[in-house]
Amino acid sequence: MCGIVGVAGNKDAVNILINGLQKLEYRGYDSAGIYVSDKDGQDHLIKRTGAIANLKNAVGDDIRGTSGIGHTRWATHGGVTVENAHPHFSQDNRFYLVHNGVIENYEELKAKYLSDFTFTSQTDTEVVVQLVDYFATKENMNAKDAFLKTLSLLDSGSSYAFQLMDREEPDTIYVAKNKSPLLIGIGKDCNVVCSDSLAMLNVTHDFLELDDGDFVTVRPDSIEIQDKNGNLVENRKPFHVDIDASDTDKGTYPYYMLKEIDEQPNVMRKLSAEYLNADGIPEIEPELLKSIKQADRLYIVAAGTSYHAGLVGKNLFETMAQIPTEVHVASEFAYNMPLLSKNPFFIFLSQSGETADSREVLVNINKAGYKSLTITNVANSTLSRESNYTLLLHAGPEISVASTKAYTAQIAVEAILAKALGEADQIKEATEFNLKQQLGLVATGMQTIVDEKEVLNKLSKDYFVDANKAFYIGRGIDYFVSLESALKLKEISYIHAEGFASGELKHGTIALIENGTPVIGIITQSNTAGLTRSNLEETIARGSKAITIVTKSLSKDGDDIIVPDVNSMLTPLLSVIPAQLLAYYTSLNKGLDVDHPRNLAKSVTVQ
Ligand code: G6P
Repeated sequence: MCGIVGVAGNKDAVNILINGLQKLEYRGYDSAGIYVSDKDGQDHLIKRTGAIANLKNAVGDDIRGTSGIGHTRWATHGGVTVENAHPHFSQDNRFYLVHNGVIENYEELKAKYLSDFTFTSQTDTEVVVQLVDYFATKENMNAKDAFLKTLSLLDSGSSYAFQLMDREEPDTIYVAKNKSPLLIGIGKDCNVVCSDSLAMLNVTHDFLELDDGDFVTVRPDSIEIQDKNGNLVENRKPFHVDIDASDTDKGTYPYYMLKEIDEQPNVMRKLSAEYLNADGIPEIEPELLKSIKQADRLYIVAAGTSYHAGLVGKNLFETMAQIPTEVHVASEFAYNMPLLSKNPFFIFLSQSGETADSREVLVNINKAGYKSLTITNVANSTLSRESNYTLLLHAGPEISVASTKAYTAQIAVEAILAKALGEADQIKEATEFNLKQQLGLVATGMQTIVDEKEVLNKLSKDYFVDANKAFYIGRGIDYFVSLESALKLKEISYIHAEGFASGELKHGTIALIENGTPVIGIITQSNTAGLTRSNLEETIARGSKAITIVTKSLSKDGDDIIVPDVNSMLTPLLSVIPAQLLAYYTSLNKGLDVDHPRNLAKSVTVQ
């Protein structure tokens, strides 16, 4: 989703901005732009639709500046055009603004104050920059006061991360934040701004996080933060991002997605080393375990792939910790909250830690005084900061829009937490479960599947590249993996794919089966294997091309993909890998951009 970069006081500002925007490409966008200025009164605004490469070409080698702001836009208000791309500017070309988020009352503000202003875009953002100009010219305010006055008029439901530049103060960036993520990076002789630290790791690894309502004046040699009450913040401590800039390169891989699929065995080993002691007992903050123990029900809240990882987690928490667990889609939970138990505990699953739908729930449950844990891949992300506890996924940066290693890492961390809870209560299902050994088996099993990935390439070519629909079916946790597997396929191959509870097919969906429709059965649970096989047969009788992903001990002659056996609670960690690879190869074989699927964003910071 939209990305923000800014730099105050560096003669290489143009390159820093363009490199930063390239690092944010993975989040999904459809246009981009930069505004740069220098102390000699030179300034430039360049915007392009499509890839950052288009913007980079348009910028060329001649444009220089010492400070500037940049943006990748994921269209919300107004189509994908150069005019709607950011930065937006005031009608007298004095102020330049980039924005992530949504301004809810922009139409009212436009009608009230700006009826005689000339607009060039259809965006909510342009209303904000014109308003700054309105107060600067009509009420004779300086840039800072005009901006603060404008912010005070924005509806409280609005979300924003803003950077404003004024031609008359070329090395200053004014920054404001409410709900949308934004960081200030502390550089050498310069300071930077970004919506994601990955964008600025070439400049600095030390960042200041911003709270909602913060207003910041960023200059080459100073960062002045004012909180929502207008008080100066003196002691905001920077945090250090421990990621090497090269971790975000794809090396010799053609796509990040393939690299990230291949990394999964190592992520499993890393999680085992991070969280389990020599005896295989999880080492989890006692306060967190105590807090969960006081709960009578867990509520897992998440979106997309993370929601699917949550569904798998339900089984882990209910089996090993024996705590009733509900799993909810964040965007639904926020506005359609179920009747909560007496002592709920919330678990937010989020790769990015920034998903606006999940954050909306967190804000509400914080107000209600309930405790929560965020399981995320990004330290210091918004969800991590605003919940009581955090467990990190330690998966390394996930760049491809289609999530793979974060999904398996989330399941592994849920297993670790469930075991820790069960161990504390001496629950047999936890104490007798050798998680260290199992994660080792999972890692080796994953390696075997990725080493034989060409089988999936062939299946993709034979049955999927020309298909216009496909179904994954399974029961219990195999059904949950079916949901995730179908999501992978639709996200990046654009084939209409759905995951179904295999017993439910006959109640409607089976009407969609035609000659050659691929139906993939996931079979990893002994108590339902026979039933899922019968349901597959029912589709074969109606012309489907049935394919099986099955664990070794349940396999039969004629099965297609056989995955190694692991404990039945952890089979999703293996059965999902062939589905990830099938999606990857189908996208590749269709000539699509695997890492940047159309219409999607990696980090969805609007509701
Ligand atoms: C977006 C991404 C999905 C992701 C979902 C939730 O829709 O495209 O891949 O699963 O957001 O993201 P989160 O960062 O909260 O896991």
